[in-house]
Amino acid sequence: MRKVLKSDQRPFEIKPQQESVWVCMCGLSKNQPFCDGSHKTTRDEENGKTYEYDAEGHRHEV
Ligand code: FES
Repeated sequence: MRKVLKSDQRPFEIKPQQESVWVCMCGLSKNQPFCDGSHKTTRDEENGKTYEYDAEGHRHEV
């Protein structure tokens, strides 16, 4: 699990697309709300632990 800090206070509209749109669910994308592939850094997170990531992408267990 990751602690995710969100600052927007309103929804983000995704208009109808001809191709799939991938919305970030890990909280690490630098292109929110869209996935930018940053979720790959979570692959070795251990179940049952909580992590936070700093601005440089360094992981810390909390
Ligand atoms: S799901 Fe968050 S970057 Fe891909």
